[in-house]
Amino acid sequence: MTIYNLGSINYDYFYHLPNLLRAGETLAAHEYRRGMGGKGANMSVAASRGAARVMHIGLVGKDGLWAKNKLLEYGVDTRHIASGSTTGHAVIMIDPFGENSIVIHPGANREITKDQIGSALREASAGDILLMQNETNQQAYTAKLAKELGLKVIYAAAPFEAKSVADILPYIDILVLNEIEAEQLVSSSGQNLQSLRLEHIFVTLGSRGCKHFDKLKDKTAHFDAIPVEAVDTTGAGDTFTGYLVAGLDRGLSVEQLVLLATRASAIMVQRYGTSDVIPDLKDIEDEFGPQPT
Ligand code: RIB
Repeated sequence: MTIYNLGSINYDYFYHLPNLLRAGETLAAHEYRRGMGGKGANMSVAASRGAARVMHIGLVGKDGLWAKNKLLEYGVDTRHIASGSTTGHAVIMIDPFGENSIVIHPGANREITKDQIGSALREASAGDILLMQNETNQQAYTAKLAKELGLKVIYAAAPFEAKSVADILPYIDILVLNEIEAEQLVSSSGQNLQSLRLEHIFVTLGSRGCKHFDKLKDKTAHFDAIPVEAVDTTGAGDTFTGYLVAGLDRGLSVEQLVLLATRASAIMVQRYGTSDVIPDLKDIEDEFGPQPT
């Protein structure tokens, strides 16, 4: 099966600071790095490193050929990445505890056309997966088309926007969100998570693990995180989601895929960077031993 990921591609600029900025504050970074990111690209790379076949649908600027080449190098099919105005970018501030604040400039990520979506999904078959986050345009259109074509639709509600989630909710099968996004969804929709008409909901809880609501089996489960010393949490949630989706695509059980995604993100928080440092299956096996079967 193929995972079609309608997702952002960003140039990530990382600034390591003594603390996250307060209003009116100016701070000198003691370290600066650059790399490829974007929640979409990070999830594509994670799913590809989790052994899935991934087709990324997105847009970079004329200055963004490097990003397209990087995705290709990381095993992602880039034939449906088109060229737009300027490549999106993110300014990422990281404090000594590994927490971050991020400002994004969407640029070309918000210039995706219906034609581009149509020509990408024309290659899809029933049973393939559509993955999306909230850093591009055309989400509701793409989700509706994907459902009509028989794809499973998985949405990571990040960054959270009430209207985007409300528009797309009727077409989603599986929702992945963090605790804060879950609270935002409950307060904006006036519904509790269990009452949403979805197959599965995964709520990530950072160092406290992950909660899973299985609507079909009417079951709730909690999975622990792996305790590690985090140096940079940026992209850890994207890594979790990418691995989760790769696991679903490979037909793993919920327990197996959450364990795999948890292990991948435990390694990720011990690394600095985003797409470029997402662990592969070999890294996970070296650190934690054989995959669960
Ligand atoms: O989730 C981390 C990502 O958020 C970064 O790679 C950045 O580009 C923003 O999209």
